[in-house]
Amino acid sequence: MRLFAAVSTLLTSLVVIATASAENAIQLSAGATSAPTRMAGNIDSWAALAIVATALISAWAINHYAARVRTVGTLVSALACLSVAAWFFFYILNTGFLENPKPNQTPLDSAKPALLWIQASLSLVAGLFLLLVFKRRLNDSEMLAISAKNATDRYGSVSRFLHWSIAILFLALIPMGIFTSIIPEDTAYRNAYYVVHKTLGVIVFLLLLLRLIWNGLSPKPALESSLKPIERKLAHGVHVALYLMMIALPLTGFIMTSYHGYPTFFFAWEFGPLWAPSDSATIIWGSLHKYLLPYLLYLILGAHILGALKHRFLDKHSEGMKRMLS
Ligand code: HEM
Repeated sequence: MRLFAAVSTLLTSLVVIATASAENAIQLSAGATSAPTRMAGNIDSWAALAIVATALISAWAINHYAARVRTVGTLVSALACLSVAAWFFFYILNTGFLENPKPNQTPLDSAKPALLWIQASLSLVAGLFLLLVFKRRLNDSEMLAISAKNATDRYGSVSRFLHWSIAILFLALIPMGIFTSIIPEDTAYRNAYYVVHKTLGVIVFLLLLLRLIWNGLSPKPALESSLKPIERKLAHGVHVALYLMMIALPLTGFIMTSYHGYPTFFFAWEFGPLWAPSDSATIIWGSLHKYLLPYLLYLILGAHILGALKHRFLDKHSEGMKRMLS
């Protein structure tokens, strides 16, 4: 109960701070002051396509029935995590944008360099960990007996594919969104980041719709029997919260962008705003997409990952991870 009270106080303060500060800074959301320009040869769309293809191939390969394909998938995932870390340590740190970002719109914006440092370091650790898993899997020859549909005790290949492709793209969108929002206005490639971010955001939303349809066609396996009643409630709550986040983040991004009068990009295509621009609506939806939901997400993801690790390493139950991995 105390935790709940602390979390609600934090969230209420976030909204108040964000909204109050944002009232002085209408440029809360979606892009440059001038009309967005596309890069020559649609390089931005190709970059988006490369990221989507990497996520889909990794998600397909790490769940493949053949050990050799799973091993290659692990290597691709490791390299993807290491690329995110390299992007930060070798490129972003050299842009000077962390020291001289686009002017802050709210006091919370000053946390962005720290958030990027944390996320890049986590990506580095995840990449190194996956390299170790790759090394161990080199001798693996186990064929997975896995069907497309979910079984009563583990997920099938379709759910696994959707789970991991959504997870990879979703996690990539967070540092990308933060970096996009600090790029100074006059930077030539600024809009390219918006193109990639918005395209990936729309893809996550579409994949999530598929996942929800699939959940209806093939019911999810029951929660692990070794979980205590309180752990079951927490696990269920965290799962529901994550689904809500995956729906709310792309929707609020799209609505904020539309109210700000900017287009939503999907690779080389552009969709103009669906309604008339409104500064007050931009502030409300921007406060949700840029502040409330990301901070809430950090709490939920932290709970999800810590819960899974506690269950696996402190309580020594390996069934939970196996349901989605083996
Ligand atoms: C799962 C999907 C998505 C996630 C996880 C996500 C996450 C984020 C995050 C964490 C930020 C940084 C906020 C900040 O620190 O200021 C951001 C910024 C942004 N997002 Fe998204 N986003 C998603 C989808 C979308 C979509 C679909 C759109 C639009 C169609 C969009 C538009 C934007 C824009 C315009 C910004 C930059 C705002 C600025 O310039 O300050 N996002 N997003």
